[in-house]
Amino acid sequence: MRQDHIISAKQLSREDIEEVLDRAGEIAADPSSFQGRHEGSLLGLLFFEPSTRTKMSFSAAMKRLGGDIVDMGTVESSSVKKGESLADTVRVVEGYADALVLRHPSEGSAKMASEFVAVPLINAGDGAGQHPTQTLLDLYTIRENAGFEDLTIGIMGDLKYGRTVHSLAHALTVFDARQHFISPESLQLPRSVRYDLHEAGADVREHTELDEVLPELDVLYVTRIQEERFPDESEYHEVAGEYQIDASTLSAANDDLTVMHPLPRVDEIDHDVDGTSAAKYFDQAHNGVPVRMALLDMVLGGDR
Ligand code: NCD
Repeated sequence: MRQDHIISAKQLSREDIEEVLDRAGEIAADPSSFQGRHEGSLLGLLFFEPSTRTKMSFSAAMKRLGGDIVDMGTVESSSVKKGESLADTVRVVEGYADALVLRHPSEGSAKMASEFVAVPLINAGDGAGQHPTQTLLDLYTIRENAGFEDLTIGIMGDLKYGRTVHSLAHALTVFDARQHFISPESLQLPRSVRYDLHEAGADVREHTELDEVLPELDVLYVTRIQEERFPDESEYHEVAGEYQIDASTLSAANDDLTVMHPLPRVDEIDHDVDGTSAAKYFDQAHNGVPVRMALLDMVLGGDR
């Protein structure tokens, strides 16, 4: 794969995805094999929104490859506070790093920022838009646990504002997965995502109740209601707390069900699920390191 900017899951072919997952698999099998491969390289981190997993796993990945990071830090401690535009910020930081990772609250910001820089820019979440690197680690986790053959997945929760959902749903079309979307009516997929899935020939059904589909699922991908994206807090409170699962929910599921969540969770998965064999969300978070190592290796020119 030679792609300068990683902006959306829509730009990734099945071949691109499998190349990243295969390389991540090699890294996971022998973590020392890629150590030091990018010594001297620097990754610029520009996070305009909170992050634990994405930021830390990108940092860990870069350091494990032998490189280092330069981090803008919080918005409050940067020149953004003085009114600097995103375009100016990325143009400055590209002079300090070999690749950039950007998370920003505005949908479309990663695409816009990428037009101002020559170094590869990776979208780590643009508002309610896309989160393609989360999708790669989600796909890695799905491949490890359920495989892509004849896959039936349920994606539940905030389908409207959840960027991990928008990216994952699109990427799953290249694997011909059957996708069931479960949400309250007010949080169904945005029209633009539904249109893209339709154009990609996806096999998609929408539901308001999990029980309708749970027994058919190989994977259940649960998401957090994205409180910070609701224009009106009362609308959030109307749907908060719906669409929760606990260990008893799983009694109606297939024995091999894999439960995933991009995390952080609020209350959508009860802690009593954590000890079950279905729970894979912590493995999923850990997979962020080998997957991001593989992606960075490719973006930084480690193609063999
Ligand atoms: C997700 C995100 O930022 O979109 N978090 C993550 O990167 N793992 C999911 C979320 O915040 O709900």
